[in-house]
Amino acid sequence: MRDNKTSQAANEYDANVHKTIPRYHLFHDETLDLVESTMPNPVAWLDTGCGTGTLIVKAIEKFGQLQFVAADPAAGMLQLAAEKLANNEITYVAAGSEDLDYINNFDVVTAIMVHHYLDEEGRRKATGNCYNMLKQGGIYITFETIRPTTENGTRIGLKRWQNAQILSGKNPEAVDKHISRYGIELLPITIDEHRQLLTEAGFSTVEIFWVSGMQAGFYGLK
Ligand SMILES: C[S@@+](CC[C@H](N)C(=O)[O-])C[C@H]1O[C@@H](n2cnc3c(N)ncnc32)[C@H](O)[C@@H]1O
Repeated sequence: MRDNKTSQAANEYDANVHKTIPRYHLFHDETLDLVESTMPNPVAWLDTGCGTGTLIVKAIEKFGQLQFVAADPAAGMLQLAAEKLANNEITYVAAGSEDLDYINNFDVVTAIMVHHYLDEEGRRKATGNCYNMLKQGGIYITFETIRPTTENGTRIGLKRWQNAQILSGKNPEAVDKHISRYGIELLPITIDEHRQLLTEAGFSTVEIFWVSGMQAGFYGLK
């Protein structure tokens, strides 16, 4: 049985995520680069939906030991993050973005491939909470699977994603199973809807900074 909302069990996630999202490793590198360009000396950083903790490992390598909070509603994911980060001082919180309880606390909030399981109201609540948890001037960075604006575009985008997964070595049955979750378990929104979501949450600067296939990266400055 799955112990989180991704298509893999927590203990299979690291070894397989690149087969589902072939450019997955770039999300973390792009995120770190964006933080460095906008917030060179962050003090407090929340990674919500931290999964197995890979982004925080890379963030420590680049920025040193800051006040990191690693949050995820899936106990199996948090457990693996804690093992991976065993020699570091990290605060772990077992909760989704919508339920985290901080105010004006962080310089950086990251949510990498995390909110596309939420419906419209849940996503609004989660994004609004990420805004509230940032200090004034802080940065929110999110990557998400997106929805093209037309039915045809969605069909073509999914076909290309399917091909990319097969090329990455995933078996065709598992690929079909994953793609069939789109719009049912995964609830992606369009790029314009993302911009609107961030603007309505209150962010003053809202930008898209990375797009490839069916995934995109966005940031908002508070
Ligand atoms: C695709 S994984 C991404 C993990 C990690 N951010 C990464 O870059 O590898 C999605 C993660 O989001 C978590 N998640 C699901 N719903 C969430 C929510 N409402 N708030 C925060 N995290 C959530 C899942 O438990 C899972 O660990």
